[in-house]
Amino acid sequence: MTPPAARSRRSFIASMGLLSAVPLSASAWRTAPGLPAAQAGPRPQGLALHADDFLFARGLVYLQTGSLGPTPRPVMDRAIAAWKQLEENPVFYAYGPQEQAMEDTRAKVAALVGCDTEELLVTRSTTEGMNWVAQGLGLTAGDRVLTTDQEHPGGRVCWDYLARKHGVGIDVVAIAPGERDGGAIVDRFAKAVTPRTRVFSFSHLLTSTGLRMPVAALCELARRRGALSVVDGAQAVGGVAVDVRALGCDVYVSSGHKWLLAPPGTGLVYLNKAIGRAVDPIPLQAGRRVYSASSGVTNIPGVLAMATAVDYVTTIGAARIEQHNLALRRRLWTALESLPSLRIVSPPDGPLASPMLSYALPDAVKADDLCNRLMARHRVVVKIVPGEWFNGHRISTHLFNTDEDVDALAEALKAELG
Ligand SMILES: Cc1ncc(COP(=O)(O)O)c(C=O)c1O
Repeated sequence: MTPPAARSRRSFIASMGLLSAVPLSASAWRTAPGLPAAQAGPRPQGLALHADDFLFARGLVYLQTGSLGPTPRPVMDRAIAAWKQLEENPVFYAYGPQEQAMEDTRAKVAALVGCDTEELLVTRSTTEGMNWVAQGLGLTAGDRVLTTDQEHPGGRVCWDYLARKHGVGIDVVAIAPGERDGGAIVDRFAKAVTPRTRVFSFSHLLTSTGLRMPVAALCELARRRGALSVVDGAQAVGGVAVDVRALGCDVYVSSGHKWLLAPPGTGLVYLNKAIGRAVDPIPLQAGRRVYSASSGVTNIPGVLAMATAVDYVTTIGAARIEQHNLALRRRLWTALESLPSLRIVSPPDGPLASPMLSYALPDAVKADDLCNRLMARHRVVVKIVPGEWFNGHRISTHLFNTDEDVDALAEALKAELG
């Protein structure tokens, strides 16, 4: 009987075969990734498909996917092979076979998040996608956007711009670090909505604490109140299973270069076709095709490799990745509970939990100093939470992380904090 790991490796290789519908030259194939069906030697890290898929510096414990995810070797190799092919005849490949292949990326990303290909745009980042959407809504003076005080600037600056330039109003729902009640969040949105509220804009997973927002209930509320729901899913796609139809949102925006493990400079926007031209992204006004004549040359190797990233996570399985990530988070929670100087601010295990966990530090301990010491002395990489929220760190646990990584962080904190 074939062991599951070998089967998943084989199906991944098979999916790579599909990807190569774009003919690669012999030289490109020589430099393309070796994806051996079985490997001797070290065990893959976590759920990684092969032992050498992640290229972290030796001994590094990387718990910072929420800021920037690593690119696994097969994804990076796909980008390099595509770039080499492009160099052989740039115009021919960019406007011919590779343009066609970028549609393959679009279809794969759409399938990953559960929408139709025509509802999906490939972008460079969440920030870009949010700006495209905000600019394409045609909001005018007096229209209002309802958001939260826990948004990342990548999901907020687009509305601030409309406020400055066009007199759009912004209402803000507070979500205290330490919030543990999804229903209370929905109630606060319901109280804050006005007859002029045109948009609800909020994160799927909060960047500050990882709190998983009650997205479906908020989208339903937006619909009942005649507003569009725009979800910033930068921290979700690839780390947890995402189904935009089940969430019921009108717009869903995310990054490729975080949890999806796609190359830097990749992202996505889902626009529910039922809302038609209510959202008309400015760069795409010549048409909804992701690479319409007006949308400009893009990062072709990165976009092509984004399809390989989708293959990577779907070969492992989005639900399986989510379970793995949440199990690591539970382990971390238990370890941190035994450190009296820390206060966990993220929600406990349950519907509001996600693969990110944040803790607050005592005032006497500066989050940035401790972050530097964790890296310099213990080779553990964590994120400093912006000080306006609280003095603390955010930890991201993803598919390549292991129990040993979580334990290494806990040990390092114990050593540093006593
Ligand atoms: C919730 C949220 N939105 C947006 C961003 C920005 O993402 P990008 O760099 O892809 O624009 C981040 C980055 O951390 C984020 O956490």
